[in-house]
Amino acid sequence: MTTSPKAAPEVMEKLVSLCKRRGFIFQSSEIYGGAGSVWDYGPLGVELKRNIKELWWNAMVRARDDIEGLDAAILMHPRVWEASGHVAGFVDPLVDCKNCKKRFRADDPRIKGTPGAPDGQCPACGMKGTLSEPRQFNLMFKTFMGPVEDSASVAYLRPETAQGIYVNFLNVQQSTRQKVPFGIAQIGKAFRNEITPGNFIFRTREFEQMEMQFFVEPDDAPKWFDYWKAERMSWHRSLGIDQARLSYHEHSGAELAHYAKAAFDIQFDFGGTLGSQEIEGIHNRGDFDLTQHQAFSGKKLEYFDQPNNKRFLPWVIETSVGADRTTLAVLTNAYREESVAGEDEGRTVLALSPLIAPIKAGVFPLVKKDGMPEMAQKLSAELRAAFPVFYDDSGAIGRRYRRQDEVGTPFCVTVDGESLAEGTVTIRDRDTLQQIRLPAEQVRAHISERIAR
Ligand code: GAP
Repeated sequence: MTTSPKAAPEVMEKLVSLCKRRGFIFQSSEIYGGAGSVWDYGPLGVELKRNIKELWWNAMVRARDDIEGLDAAILMHPRVWEASGHVAGFVDPLVDCKNCKKRFRADDPRIKGTPGAPDGQCPACGMKGTLSEPRQFNLMFKTFMGPVEDSASVAYLRPETAQGIYVNFLNVQQSTRQKVPFGIAQIGKAFRNEITPGNFIFRTREFEQMEMQFFVEPDDAPKWFDYWKAERMSWHRSLGIDQARLSYHEHSGAELAHYAKAAFDIQFDFGGTLGSQEIEGIHNRGDFDLTQHQAFSGKKLEYFDQPNNKRFLPWVIETSVGADRTTLAVLTNAYREESVAGEDEGRTVLALSPLIAPIKAGVFPLVKKDGMPEMAQKLSAELRAAFPVFYDDSGAIGRRYRRQDEVGTPFCVTVDGESLAEGTVTIRDRDTLQQIRLPAEQVRAHISERIAR
């Protein structure tokens, strides 16, 4: 069996098609021609993404006593976004073509000449001198709260979840009696009216973030920044992503966001033209956010350090990772096309870690007779009490294995003639293709142990 690595654009196309065919990810509102850069998660996709989110929540909240969970609302007071800098600063410069009415980022490399000048040539219709001067375009989705659509009722769909944490900083600290250093974590939807979305679920207009803000003494910020850099990298490894495809990228002065004193991205190598791209950002935000919210709300947000009898605004180390982008990284990392010795047809495999695979085991009767379906169904019900299982009795056994390989199911359990006589079944390993035979009553413990490993 050999693995044939594919050029990335081809892999991305194949992934998009596999995800639709097998029920991982569908284009939003597809029957209406689709909504631009918005995607729906199907039965297998929702399980995969949920497994990733649960691993994050377990690692960040449940397994630690210094991070608390939060689920803040998407809609917030509009002043939040003035304080955060998003109303003034979360903008992209855009130009319009007066001829074909298309809109582009001002730094679009396809634009010839200077926008606003006679030599400015439109990349879509090719006309010269039709491009407007660059104008600032805010990426936040705007709506109205209540029945009146006026400037006093403007609201925004949050472009990041972080602000819900800052405005609740003292609520959480005082209700839990946490002491600095401690963190607040949440998972939730964020919305950005991206101008150049694309690459499937890599950059979308509606997405989910998993963000954690860690509040520290100002002098300790560099130490905690290093700690979270290492911790978050090892979390990505724990999803089964190859070390060789992960890297750090340090933001230089010009790249730093308006709030950041230092920033590192964790990047995943998607291959091909996309290459290595950010999947998570780790930022030292200083006291920027709490200072801003204190000034804009007029409410003190200082932390009171009782042993030292001092009040101060903690600094924040933020870890911010996209649930969708991580899902895409995991899928890209797992995608394989393999030829199988002695067979004409190769196989497509998602070599997902058993921890995140949507289905943990396929259960098959070898044939649909002689009591095999009954025994397989009984076993499947037993296993389903412990983990997600797919029962399949249709088609040749080889095809049933291939169908599970393609969606990343790590184990396939088959009930055959010997099973009825001896009470044993075979367990096939997706990656090695090796089969072992075990008493049926040991299957649940065997697979549970392999999933947790
Ligand atoms: N609170 C900090 C913040 O939001 P960011 O670098 O803008 O930082 C963090 O976003 C992460 O959110 C990114 O690393 C990415 O995984 C995800 N993300 C951001 N914009 C996205 C989009 N349009 N589509 C999908 N994921 C996105």
